Amino acid sequence: MAMSWTTGRGSDLHIAPAGGRGRRAALESALRDGIRTGRLRPGEVMPSSRALAAQLGVARGTVVEAYSQLQAEGYLRARRGSGTEVASEAVTAPRSPRLPRAAAPLIDFRLGRPDPSSFPRRLWLRAVREALQSAPESAFGPLGPQGDSSFREALAGYVGRTRGVLTEPELMLVCGGFIQSLRLLCEALRARGARTIALEDPFIPDHREVALAAGLEVITLDVDEHGARPEKLLRGEADAVVLTPAHQAVLGATLAPERRAEFAAWAAERDAVIIEDDYDAEFRYDRQPVGAMQALAPDRVVYAGSASKTLAPALRIGWMALPPTLVSSVIERKRRVDRGTSVLDQLALAQMIETGSFDRHVRAMRRRYHRRRDLLTAMIDRVAPRMRIAGTAAGLHLVALLPDEPNLEDEIVDAAAGRSLALTGLARFRHDPQESTPGIAIGFGAPPEHAYESSLAALEGLLGEFSDRLS
Ligand SMILES: Cc1ncc(COP(=O)(O)O)c(C=O)c1O
Repeated sequence: MAMSWTTGRGSDLHIAPAGGRGRRAALESALRDGIRTGRLRPGEVMPSSRALAAQLGVARGTVVEAYSQLQAEGYLRARRGSGTEVASEAVTAPRSPRLPRAAAPLIDFRLGRPDPSSFPRRLWLRAVREALQSAPESAFGPLGPQGDSSFREALAGYVGRTRGVLTEPELMLVCGGFIQSLRLLCEALRARGARTIALEDPFIPDHREVALAAGLEVITLDVDEHGARPEKLLRGEADAVVLTPAHQAVLGATLAPERRAEFAAWAAERDAVIIEDDYDAEFRYDRQPVGAMQALAPDRVVYAGSASKTLAPALRIGWMALPPTLVSSVIERKRRVDRGTSVLDQLALAQMIETGSFDRHVRAMRRRYHRRRDLLTAMIDRVAPRMRIAGTAAGLHLVALLPDEPNLEDEIVDAAAGRSLALTGLARFRHDPQESTPGIAIGFGAPPEHAYESSLAALEGLLGEFSDRLS
């Protein structure tokens, strides 16, 4: 028996009682449910028992009994005068909180985001189809936390070939992007007694949060045009350091060879760990790619890569090549955290790597981003020659350093927001924002390809507002 009736507010209340119950019990339960979920609101006047009985096609006594039961339970009450209404104190289910929705900026120049319109849908679809056809049944059995062995094999070959990483599939772990790699590593290091980790400053604020949440103390290393400076480490007591040697996140320098050697020597002497965050090295424009630092000290350096820039951050795929001493503890943590990363994505990416379509996609994207970078630097040189551009050799962003004028960085970022244009000031990436060199980080990856030039025009319009101070 399903019943429908029209409430006092004119909305239809559909009552579908569970089978096998009496009509009265079904009606009571449907009304309780309507009140708890807020479809019947406090104060709402119920139809007369005669009218409701007629609408539902039940005996009037059934409705009278149901009303009186719900009055006894506090859901309904008699109205002064006559009739029945929903009690004002009637329990209603908590409504799910409305989460504040941040308005998406129309034009996105935030740091480190790849172009979502360039996700290789066709290649990915083909890879998924081929992977599904060729994967053995065992691939869909319980997942090992370390990741699919064919994917780890493909990855070990890929990072060896493209980044000079010295590793093998047994030392690799697949995880949910770099952020999870960092979490697993920080927790594993803390568990074996590490207390302090060093981060480059500027850094990605989330990375500091992850380290702190794992119970590590964070110290910061200064950064200059040769990358992170090791002095503080040599003096201090850190047990680990996170470095971005290929393209310092945020300022964009490449870590100088002498400094690489100094960090490696420090790690050997102190029995410390270096975490190499190789987040965007596939996109190198001006010179031969600098190989991964991991090859200098494979027993001390964790090499960490991610598909977030080459494919999409939404895939949540990353990988690590681990020193042998860390393998079992980090895998065990991964098992506890989520038992492993989705196998289908691993199989698809393995397929893309093995067939060469991943390399072709990366090459095509490198050309695309190279062109974008050139258009951006030419525009800045033309309209804002007092901004000094840095960090252009690689990656999906550059840094525009500003003349040292009070508040200029904030003014530009605020004016950008007023034009629905997302830009980030450098102070946001500093441990101590007061110490920041004024500047803005401009990501040139995120605007969709068809809208890149119009996005640049909008940025040019913004910089034009500041022409008295920038040109
Ligand atoms: C410095 C840095 N490292 C790593 C990543 C990649 O993070 P994930 O793989 O968690 O998306 C990013 C992405 O924005 C980044 O900026």
